[in-house]
Amino acid sequence: MEKIAIASDHAGRELKEDLKEYLQSLGIEAHDMGANSDKSVDYPDYGIPLAEKVSAGEVARGVLICGTGIGMSILANKFRGVRAALVNDVYTARMAKEHNDANILVIGGRVVGKGLAREILKTWIEAIFEGGRHQRRLDKITEIERKYNNKQ
Ligand code: RB5
Repeated sequence: MEKIAIASDHAGRELKEDLKEYLQSLGIEAHDMGANSDKSVDYPDYGIPLAEKVSAGEVARGVLICGTGIGMSILANKFRGVRAALVNDVYTARMAKEHNDANILVIGGRVVGKGLAREILKTWIEAIFEGGRHQRRLDKITEIERKYNNKQ
């Protein structure tokens, strides 16, 4: 069974719970990495462990949710091999995979409703990376990690 890791802060928790259920209904195991209460927390405390897992190849992909999705995407993209895409619409969800091979989907829990979020998630899961010129472009980004010797 495919496994997708999912984490949020307090602002994304309600949407996380819904998307977890949705993943399970799609036959995908949701690995919940918190947060598990509505108490105010710092999003890096939940985003970092998930981004580390994706970066290490322990899971192929993950979903991060905070209020806007901005904080989680800034942090996730610090990690080697992570391509996190902040997606709040269905078109971008498809492009995030087809063109950018995004391995972390980030959604704004205070921006997107549950119905749209489910559509975004399904679209990203089902889309297929096109490779070719898009791979060449991603290779140029990966080269930055090599050049600056980012150890993470
Ligand atoms: C929390 O209030 C909020 O700042 C956080 O969820 C996120 O939107 C940060 O980018």
